Amino acid sequence: MHEKQLMEKQLVGARAAELVEDGMVVGLGTGSTAYYMIQRLAERVRAGLDIACVATSRQTHELAASLGIRILDVNQVEAIDLTIDGADEIDEHFNAIKGGGGALLREKIVASLSRKVVIIADSTKRVKQLGKFPLPVEIVAFAHKHTLKKFEQAGYPAKIREKDGTLFVTDGGNHIVDLHLGRIDDPEGLAETIDRMTGVVDHGLFIDLVHEVLLAEDGDVRLLKK
Ligand code: A5P
Repeated sequence: MHEKQLMEKQLVGARAAELVEDGMVVGLGTGSTAYYMIQRLAERVRAGLDIACVATSRQTHELAASLGIRILDVNQVEAIDLTIDGADEIDEHFNAIKGGGGALLREKIVASLSRKVVIIADSTKRVKQLGKFPLPVEIVAFAHKHTLKKFEQAGYPAKIREKDGTLFVTDGGNHIVDLHLGRIDDPEGLAETIDRMTGVVDHGLFIDLVHEVLLAEDGDVRLLKK
């Protein structure tokens, strides 16, 4: 990662933690930008901020809990006031690709339960058109080779994700297929097509789920609203 990108992640992450108010139920995102948000949020909690949080991954759960942030099971909360999460790409309509870290399913569930979703992004994440970043799709382990083949047959160059020489396993016990599409002309249409495929659990296209984007740009942070 370039130094500039790292600095932007730190900047935007820390700034996002300031959006949290006393008494909120907060959804905590996953990834390296969310990491900095969680660090700053933990400082605020130590200084007296009273919040409860739900985590979008085991990794985030462990990090936040180790820093003294109160984490609830998502079934214990009625609704989530604010979720702050990273993204792999975000376009001008606030549609996003997520799941680079493999946490897309819990991230999407938490986002869908949230009154407000804010994406925290370094400047590399803002794109005119989605699709340069491979689109992650979570598939069940059963018959995964056949599901992979169906993506190829549908014309989507697909690669099953591996980690340390073996298949990547998500928090839900599933696998990830990355679709190397280059460009996505119709995100809504593609989302519907993938949703209809048997063996698919969910995909990393976030359509109409994001309300605001906190973007690092030129050494500063801008809050973009729809
Ligand atoms: C995790 O599965 C992803 O959706 C992340 O939110 C996304 O990959 C952004 O990660 P970084 O903040 O590490 O770039």
